[in-house]
Amino acid sequence: MANRSHRNAGHRAMNALKKAGGKHSSEGLVSYEVPTKTRHVVGVSDCLDTLAAIPDNSIQLIVCDPPYNIQLADWDSHSNYLDWAKDWLAEAERVLSPSGSIAIFGGLQYQNEAGSGDLLTLISHLRHNSKMLLANLIIWNYPNGMSAHRFFANRHEEVAWFAKSNKYFFDLDAVREPFDEQTKKAYLKDKRLNPESVEKGRNPTNVWRMPRLNGNSKERVGHPTQKPAVVIERLVRALSYPGSTVLDFFAGSGVTTRVAIQEGRNSISFDKDPIFEEYLSKQLGMITPSNLLKTVPEYEIVTGLENIATDDSGQRPIVDAAE
Ligand SMILES: C[S@@+](CC[C@H](N)C(=O)[O-])C[C@H]1O[C@@H](n2cnc3c(N)ncnc32)[C@H](O)[C@@H]1O
Repeated sequence: MANRSHRNAGHRAMNALKKAGGKHSSEGLVSYEVPTKTRHVVGVSDCLDTLAAIPDNSIQLIVCDPPYNIQLADWDSHSNYLDWAKDWLAEAERVLSPSGSIAIFGGLQYQNEAGSGDLLTLISHLRHNSKMLLANLIIWNYPNGMSAHRFFANRHEEVAWFAKSNKYFFDLDAVREPFDEQTKKAYLKDKRLNPESVEKGRNPTNVWRMPRLNGNSKERVGHPTQKPAVVIERLVRALSYPGSTVLDFFAGSGVTTRVAIQEGRNSISFDKDPIFEEYLSKQLGMITPSNLLKTVPEYEIVTGLENIATDDSGQRPIVDAAE
């Protein structure tokens, strides 16, 4: 079957704009200075209390990996899932800056697993009840997983990327995949291809092949659904910029905090389970001077919701809305 992406009106408009030397509305929207120090507010709190403490339009990226009623743990059960989820989804939209995005992890649940909600439930709700735009459905394809005999063994999970507005920030160059030397050489000879883009590497596409953490992975801190840092890293690099703020109100193992520190972003990470503090200290123990951005060598950790809204002087939100 033919590739239909060229029939997509958005793609055609963007290509025409590029040919005419134009820019997407998001380009130039965000200007930032790389900070020398970042700030990370952490603690134990219910998601709605965390969100209530955050000013409007102040967050660049929300990494959102909610429970889905599949009884993986005590926290994974809600009698009316959507009734609960719609409140934090509305709050998430409020706190995002106009250039901001939310990346919602999840999967489609099959057969009798569906309970009252899954990622499809959330996507459908947002489509009808929110102004946010579905920018991509990312397929996280992992090579490792359970075997199956009555159906094809599952090897993917989805991440729905919603942007607050069409002025969303997206740094493709930060996540391009370099071509191998042989391919690069061949492509550089191809007159139809732009040598600058060839040098930068390829768009990693919306299918991300990255392994899940296995039982004895060095990264594991004990959380049952911990996401690998590489997956969070790609979201943080593409959808936020140094000095902006990343929020995770279902922070789980604390991996978002670690990635934010390493990538020179500020962050806010809370989970309602007090064991979060133990997991987080293991994550922080993995940070070394060599995995910090050279340009952002310092960071501070502060605990408690009361520290979200202000800096040390108590005057200013720690997060600046990119207008
Ligand atoms: C799927 S896990 C997140 C895993 C995390 N992304 C990671 O990679 O480590 C969902 C988390 O949400 C937390 N949680 C469940 N209900 C919550 C609520 N109402 N408020 C805050 N956190 C909640 C659970 O304790 C759990 O750690």
